[in-house]
Order: sequence, then structure tokens, then C-alpha cells
Amino acid sequence: MKTAAITAVGHYAPDKVVPNSTYTAYLQTTDEWIVSRTGIRERRFLEEGGTSDLAVGAARRALAMRGIGAEEVELIIVATVTPDMFFPSTAALVQHKLGAKNAWGFDLSGACSGFLYALATGVQFIQSGTYKKVLIIGADKMTSIVDFEDRNTAILFGDGGAAVLLEPSEEEGYGIIDWVNYLDGSGEEALHMKAGGSRNPATHETVDKRWHYIHQDGKAVFKVAVVGMADVSEEIMKRNNLTGADVAWLVPHQANMRIIRATADRMGVDMSKVMINIDRYGNTTAATIPSCLAEYYADGRLKRGDNVVLAAFGAGYTWGATYIKWSI
Ligand code: UT7
Repeated sequence: MKTAAITAVGHYAPDKVVPNSTYTAYLQTTDEWIVSRTGIRERRFLEEGGTSDLAVGAARRALAMRGIGAEEVELIIVATVTPDMFFPSTAALVQHKLGAKNAWGFDLSGACSGFLYALATGVQFIQSGTYKKVLIIGADKMTSIVDFEDRNTAILFGDGGAAVLLEPSEEEGYGIIDWVNYLDGSGEEALHMKAGGSRNPATHETVDKRWHYIHQDGKAVFKVAVVGMADVSEEIMKRNNLTGADVAWLVPHQANMRIIRATADRMGVDMSKVMINIDRYGNTTAATIPSCLAEYYADGRLKRGDNVVLAAFGAGYTWGATYIKWSI
């Protein structure tokens, strides 16, 4: 059976660059602490607009790369935890702004694994023969839910969007070969945003209690993320008879350099074969993996025929890995 292949990639990073030093005095932290504990040096903040603007910026670049108009897109899936609003969906806003008038679409909430969840979903529509052009977008305006008085989280997140176009693979053995995704809802306690949803709608009290911001027990998440991302990466390699030497690129979710190193270690993949942009963007949630793909493809490091393993871990808990034989 022919699978789906990524035929175009686009990344949109907002212009405003925010180095660690911006918040070090205010949050009683240091650049040295942030760099050594996370690998982050600077991030990008979107000053005006919402997640749909990040998504549209990325989608336009992907469509331009493929040289097609937005009206050719049949389905738009937006992975995000920071939709512009509850409804309409961010996918609807993106469809309208892009002028993708022949597409339907929806949002998908998979946190840091959102792009992998969306990719696996999009693949189904291609494999079934239903569609030939599916836009998968990972975009998050994380600064809209970051508590800038909480140094545990304020130094971690940034805003960004990235998109890929999925089409039927032209050649057997190329494209998205395999994927595995997991969900464990017991992770709620360690990583969540308490209010704004139906359980705790917005009130003066929820605002006073700072419940409209990310709450993360960093240490708890760190422990499960290290194991989860390494386990799932190992699993996808075993299932596809891949050794560390066969892997051209590991593309890990960019939450913490120490988690990234631990995953590469377990896979037996040298750090020179690990895509990294956390130093320049921080954690952009659903956008980290496709933004790496876009950057490494644009500068020629990611090449046709490369065995690429994507791996993510995030809120839920959600986690997963995808194996791609890169085809462009
Ligand atoms: O993307 C979604 C999934 N999320 C993740 O994968 C994130 C996983 N977690 C992490 O990346 C790390 O746990 C963090 C980067 C969030 C924190 O690093 P850590 O090494 O786990 O630090 P910690 O939370 O254990 O804190 C160590 C110390 C604490 O002080 P005490 O209690 O040892 O005195 C914190 O209060 O560092 C302190 N601390 C800070 N100090 C300076 C916490 N944040 C800061 C800060 N600057 N920004």
C-alpha cells in the first residue's frame, strides 16, 4: 500500500527575539541556569495576533515551496493547545485566511505530541485514497498561557508555527513508513492549565489564582519524558529493524536538551545526527518538530533517502514516534 509523503515544509517564527537575559533579573534566574538546565538561549514572541497567524505564515511557506494554490488543499489539521479561541476552530480561521476554500479541517489537542498525532491522522486520509493534499500544521502561541511570574515555566516556552504538506508517496518505501502514539491521562496532575475550560470557566477567582496559565511540575514531567521518549524511539527502531547507524536524523520534541541527549543516547544516535533548534526558539509545543524539519531541509542537511525518526512527549501525557523515509 502506498503511504503518504511530506512534499513541502514551512516554518514561521515571529520577528521578536527574546534572549534569556530579558527575564533573568525579574525572575531571579540566570542565563547560565537556563542554558545548562534546558539548552535555551533565546525565544520568539508573537506581539500581535494569535496562533492562526503563526499557522498561516507557516502554511503559506509550505504551499509556496510546493508551488500550489491554497484552493488545492483538501484538509487542514491544526495541532495546538493555544487556539485563537474555543470556536471557531483555528483550522477554520486558517482556512479562511489562506483562502483554502475547498478544504475542511479541525483542531487537534495533543500538546507537545500534537504534530505527531496530526501527522498520523493525516496519513489515514491519504492512505485510504480519500485525499491527495492534506496540510498538517503545528502552531502554538505559548506566551498567551505562560505565567511570567513563574520562573519554573516562564523561561521555557516560545511562539512558533510550522506546516507540512502530505501527498500520496510517489515511490514505494518512501514517505511516512510507521508511527506509534500513546496517551496516558494520569499525567493531568503534573502538566495542565486549570481554568478556561468547562470544569473551571473564567471567573475573577480563576484569574486571581493564576489558573489560566500553564502549571508544570517540571521534575515529575522530566522523569517520565526521559523514559517515554527513549522507549518509544527504541520501539519504532526495533519495529523497523533500524540501528542507530541507520538513522540519518533524530527529530526530538524540543523541551529540554537533557531529555534530547538521553533519547539520542538510548537510540545509539550520535548528537551530530540530532536536529536541534531549542537554543533559538525554546519550547514551541506543537511546532518544534516540523520547525526542525523545515530548517534542516531548507539548508540542505535533510536529504532525500534519509531515515528520519520523529519523537515527542508532552502534556496528557501524550507521546509517540514516527519513522519517515524522507522523499524530497
Ligand atoms: O514540553 C512538554 C513537556 N515538558 C517537559 O518535557 C519539561 C520537563 N522538565 C524540564 O525540562 C525541567 O524539569 C525544568 C527545565 C523545567 C527544570 O529543571 P530541573 O533540573 O528539573 O529543575 P528543578 O525543577 O528540579 O529545580 C531545581 C532548582 C529548584 O531549586 P531548589 O528547590 O533545588 O532550591 C528550583 O526552585 O532550580 C530552581 N529553579 C530555578 N532556578 C533558577 C527552577 N526554575 C529556575 C529558574 N532559574 N528559572
